[in-house]
Amino acid sequence: MALVARDLSAQVRLDRQLVRSEKLAMVGSLAAGLAHEIGTPLNVISATAEFLLPDAGEEARAQLRGIVAETERISRLVRDLLTFARATSPGKTAVALPGAVARVLSLLRITLERRRVRVETRLPDDLPELHADPDGLHQILLNLVVNASQAVAEGGRVVVAARAVEEDGERSVQLEVHDDGPGVPPALRERVLDPFFTTRAEGTGLGLAVVARIVADHGGDLRVGTGPLGGASFTVQLPAEEVR
Ligand SMILES: Nc1ncnc2c1ncn2[C@@H]1O[C@H](COP(=O)(O)OP(=O)(O)O)[C@@H](O)[C@H]1O
Ligand SMILES: [Mg+2]
Repeated sequence: MALVARDLSAQVRLDRQLVRSEKLAMVGSLAAGLAHEIGTPLNVISATAEFLLPDAGEEARAQLRGIVAETERISRLVRDLLTFARATSPGKTAVALPGAVARVLSLLRITLERRRVRVETRLPDDLPELHADPDGLHQILLNLVVNASQAVAEGGRVVVAARAVEEDGERSVQLEVHDDGPGVPPALRERVLDPFFTTRAEGTGLGLAVVARIVADHGGDLRVGTGPLGGASFTVQLPAEEVR
């Protein structure tokens, strides 16, 4: 697998991570305050536009639909910003990855079926439990699988795989989500993790930034590369629960 940072030194990567997490902390505290102030008037605007729709003339209807669509975009942004505000992971405990994956896939079932996206899981039976915040793990899996399913064409493939890793007596679990979409161009592999970086018209650019932050909170590692299906591959390494 091609690693994000083959030519970046460990120090440069750490610096980037620090800048990223400082940026995120700031965004988080701003978001919590703003989300509340923005949410209520936004709902009023959107509800009013929808109320006026049925009786409006053709031209006005198109404009009202524009208002609804734009308020939805702001709602998405506010919701994603709120995820930041909450993305602190205090409660680390033993979590079984297969259960977490199953919950995320069942949550996404209808979305995935609608686009006929096939998700395959490859999780060995003897996989150690993770030492992780269950909500954080959920968010990581959700964001990576959602991204993969948005990247692939209708009928595309997504694989969620994991394996145990042991380095210097430290056990961890390497989780990989890859797909058969167009992949992430090498030049963008660091930038896709930055807050607000997006190439999607509907995107907020916060999904991978949230993943990067949660992974960093766990002392883990996140890499972007090319997977065996030719599309993007996101590899997350998280500590395993100690067995005693
Ligand atoms: N599986 C993937 N395949 C190709 N590109 C991806 C994939 N996942 C993420 N990306 C790229 O990374 C960008 C940032 O993703 P993300 O932070 O989740 O924000 P958003 O989904 O709102 O755009 C996307 O806009 C896309 O360009
Ligand atoms: Mg996303």
